[in-house]
Amino acid sequence: MLAAAAQAQAPKGANDKINVACIGFGIMGQGDVATTVTVPGVRLAAIADVYQGRLDKAKELYGKDIFTTRDYREVLARPDIDAVIVATPDHWHQIMACDAMKAGKDVYCQKPMVQKVEEGEAVIRAQNETKRILQVGSQRASSILYAKAREVIKQGLVGDVHMVEAYWDRNSALGAWQYSIPPDATAQTVDWDRFVGHAPKRSFEPIRMFRWRNYQDYGTGVAGDLYVHLFTGIHYVMDSAGPNRIMSTGGLYHWNDGRDVPDHMMGMYDYPKTASHPSFHLAIRLNFAAGGGDGSGFKFIGTEGVLDLAVGGALVLRRRPKESEPGHTASNFSKATATEIVREYQKLHPAQKATADGMRATNEQRWVLPPGYTEQYAHHENFINAIRSRKPVIEDAVFGLRAAAPALLSNTSYFSGKTMHWDPEKMKMKA
Ligand SMILES: NC(=O)c1ccc[n+]([C@@H]2O[C@H](COP(=O)([O-])OP(=O)(O)OC[C@H]3O[C@@H](n4cnc5c(N)ncnc54)[C@H](O)[C@@H]3O)[C@@H](O)[C@H]2O)c1
Repeated sequence: MLAAAAQAQAPKGANDKINVACIGFGIMGQGDVATTVTVPGVRLAAIADVYQGRLDKAKELYGKDIFTTRDYREVLARPDIDAVIVATPDHWHQIMACDAMKAGKDVYCQKPMVQKVEEGEAVIRAQNETKRILQVGSQRASSILYAKAREVIKQGLVGDVHMVEAYWDRNSALGAWQYSIPPDATAQTVDWDRFVGHAPKRSFEPIRMFRWRNYQDYGTGVAGDLYVHLFTGIHYVMDSAGPNRIMSTGGLYHWNDGRDVPDHMMGMYDYPKTASHPSFHLAIRLNFAAGGGDGSGFKFIGTEGVLDLAVGGALVLRRRPKESEPGHTASNFSKATATEIVREYQKLHPAQKATADGMRATNEQRWVLPPGYTEQYAHHENFINAIRSRKPVIEDAVFGLRAAAPALLSNTSYFSGKTMHWDPEKMKMKA
């Protein structure tokens, strides 16, 4: 391992190939690999997975010569590999990320960075001691839409933000993690003990492996899976290290399929004042049986306006009219008079959108993502650029722990019924 570390430390030039391997080649591992190989100069070198079906899939996709193994340590021992993507279930993230950095590899570690808050310190220490690049895989931190939201708020266009709302709705079996269990999953095709790892020992149960999110032994519930994306977005947009008070409730109301985590959750969070922003409250709701359909987004509510951010969609800024800008009443007059009132109003206030129905004018601006843009690509590109330049990534281990901790502590609050007190700067529990 030490020899490999020394070799991989050699700096990479702008034209050198970056050899990447992936550990855990399921839904996201396949997505991450498909993205990273489109970044110029990246070459896929190896895949590790404990299920033979996924190794077969790797050869189908990337050719029979691709190196595959069920033991991720064989990947880490290869001196030709510069970086690894860790896209296994959550209970492996900390161990594999630390092992990989100690073996001299740069790491793209899927979110949540850790399964338990206490594991975060080891990842930060390994990042600092090995001087490896670690990018956590909550790709929103690289989105230009979130960067625009951050700029709009920093410019004061919504005034002081004292309240943020975030939500996540899903309404399907797949959305609720009832993923397919392949019929060829047997004790021969699956290395069950390697999947279980340090989690409590059990005999082979394919459902627990292919639907691992449903079990606390391997996953982190809806909060670790999805809230963590919301925290990443909020921390980035609000330039915040995180909340200091965490309260959570919820229940298992609909998907009673043997899972031991809730399918509905609501959380309340207090964010302390920082150098750049006043204190604010956050309310999150998540619903896996949402009759209205799938969706996710944020509302940043300021004293002068509101900024709506729909995930993967548009950013909309609505600003309160200035006190000096009168509203208008038009719809209670005849059509001709109403039209005249709106015309006159529009002449005086051309920047505002007045309608015959509106009692008050609205002042709306909208930004949409350019066609073809993906934050997933931007996030991988940020990682690959950092491997070459040795400059910091957008979402390092400190950011990763600060995004994961309030999500994981939401679970602790839900299961214990208690309020959690967290120091987001020191990244420690408070008494
Ligand atoms: N950033 C995102 O938008 C996003 C989206 C989906 C998933 N994820 C994250 O990616 C990770 C994987 O999720 P997924 O949906 O791909 O799960 P998955 O079950 O589809 O894939 C996990 C893979 O890891 C393999 N595996 C399990 N233990 C292993 C071990 N010890 N060594 C090697 N391989 C092992 C499994 O066989 C499986 O192929 C999770 O942490 C999840 O939170 C992130």
